[in-house]
Amino acid sequence: MRLDKYLTSLGIGSRSQVKELVKKGKVKINDKIVNRPEIHIEETKDHVSLNGLDLNYHKFYYYMMNKPAGVLTAVSDFQYRTVLDLMDVMPKKGLFPVGRLDKDTEGLLLITNDGELSHMLLSPGRHVAKKYYVELDGTLKQEYVTYFKEGFDIGLKADTKPAILEILSENQAYVTITEGKYHQVKRMFQHFGLKVTYLKRVRMGPLQLDENLKPGEYRALRPEEVSSLLKCKKDCEE
Ligand code: URA
Repeated sequence: MRLDKYLTSLGIGSRSQVKELVKKGKVKINDKIVNRPEIHIEETKDHVSLNGLDLNYHKFYYYMMNKPAGVLTAVSDFQYRTVLDLMDVMPKKGLFPVGRLDKDTEGLLLITNDGELSHMLLSPGRHVAKKYYVELDGTLKQEYVTYFKEGFDIGLKADTKPAILEILSENQAYVTITEGKYHQVKRMFQHFGLKVTYLKRVRMGPLQLDENLKPGEYRALRPEEVSSLLKCKKDCEE
């Protein structure tokens, strides 16, 4: 079958869109970039990949983005730019961000079309750990570490679940939480009269933010990152 026809049959895009992708060098056959859309492939033997993702074996796509501030964590919005607006990938239909970061928050965002994985990562019962780097407008005290460990009232029905506060300097810290209530990290510090001036997620479950990604950049997950996440479908508590 012709390569462009094969890519179109997988729903990657229209014939002209897939031709463009091939010409841009985004498609590899058996690990070699091909530039001719009309080339013939053996669908059952040749390994075709697009943007580094093996099309023969994947019905799901997984990307990590370093979300920039000023962009909404949403698929689309009438008013603001969304994280999906920043992505130029094929196929794009069906992709969505897993969980939500505030508009002014930066850092790790998983973007996928795997609804089951997303459900599992966000399920409150799974206690998936999320780690944030935080800067504050005031001074951290050592005693807060115990509060974070034991939980406290931030105006919700229940106290916060045990969290880890690692103080890095008088106004910088890492915080690891296993829940994801609205503005949770900001509200936790607000409890002590502190305002979060910068917030960046650096980890979600087994997935670590790739520090080579500048805000707004993204990349496909590596096979080992995907498998560490998929293992989470069974057990992701940390
Ligand atoms: N907690 C917050 O307050 N904001 C975020 O974006 C994520 C966690």
